[in-house]
Amino acid sequence: MSPTRSTTPSSTQSRLVGEAASSNAPGKSWVLITGASSGFGEEFARQYAEQGHSLVLVARRLDRLQKLAEELRRQFRVEVVVERVDLSDIPAIIQLHQRLRERGIAIDILINNAGHGLQGPFIDSKLDAALAMVQLDIASLTAVTHVFAQDMRTRKRGKILLVASMLSFLGTQNFAVYSASKAYVLRLGEALHREFKRDGLTVTTLCPGMSDTGFAAAAQQKLTPGLKLLMMQPAPVVRTGIRALQAGRISVVPGLPNKVNALFIWATPRWLHQAMFARVMGA
Ligand SMILES: NC(=O)c1ccc[n+]([C@@H]2O[C@H](COP(=O)([O-])OP(=O)(O)OC[C@H]3O[C@@H](n4cnc5c(N)ncnc54)[C@H](OP(=O)(O)O)[C@@H]3O)[C@@H](O)[C@H]2O)c1
Repeated sequence: MSPTRSTTPSSTQSRLVGEAASSNAPGKSWVLITGASSGFGEEFARQYAEQGHSLVLVARRLDRLQKLAEELRRQFRVEVVVERVDLSDIPAIIQLHQRLRERGIAIDILINNAGHGLQGPFIDSKLDAALAMVQLDIASLTAVTHVFAQDMRTRKRGKILLVASMLSFLGTQNFAVYSASKAYVLRLGEALHREFKRDGLTVTTLCPGMSDTGFAAAAQQKLTPGLKLLMMQPAPVVRTGIRALQAGRISVVPGLPNKVNALFIWATPRWLHQAMFARVMGA
């Protein structure tokens, strides 16, 4: 996992597709959402647009981003900039940051959401797939946070949301690399929450449970009856995340069943909750 490696040809061709050059007018705040082409990211875009924020939408599927941007501009009269970037390419993240700077767009709210999972026995999974997940879920999230937090510190203003998972709380059989990656996200968020406080920035980590997005299909995850029962829609998950970010909370678990599960994990020995979760997750 090299921090400067370019992973795909398309990642070097990140494109800016937006309206004429934009800048932060007084009182106008920009939200950057990674992974905005589906699932939680798309929902974050809708909810922030509804609040009247200007948006930068980032993902690889340009057609989906453009369709969403057009819809949000029409419906909420907000400014939306679309950026096609493969975030697993760290130089492409640096270039994205640079392009936004050149356009005078300062990010006030960063939703670090892009990520993907993979289900399967560790030893039988393809090493490339596991490392690609580590690259996106850990290295890219770290890089995005780093470059935009520096600007926020200069302006002494900014809010950052990191999307982790309920699986951050435990090692999960057949989700070994994913749950370990999300544990990193949670620990990073907790540490930065304290570290950035003195600079006037907030960092909040959102830990969703199973939710009805494109995630399960992308992770080749089988949905057990237990998971179907726990399944949340993206809208309430995102609403909880936005509220927690606004309130400056350190982390949040959306939904009562997930909160009960988090309490169960906290209150029980590892062997017990790990065995239970392995079953629920279909290991
Ligand atoms: N849904 C759940 O059950 C669940 C539970 C806990 C945590 N989460 C976390 O929630 C976050 C969002 O996932 P989701 O559930 O909304 O799934 P999703 O619908 O599959 O969305 C994933 C998003 O990440 C983007 N993405 C993936 N690889 C990328 C790359 N290399 N560069 C740029 N963007 C990339 C995808 O866009 P493109 O494919 O267009 O690039 C897509 O917009 C993830 O971090 C996931 O781990 C999900």
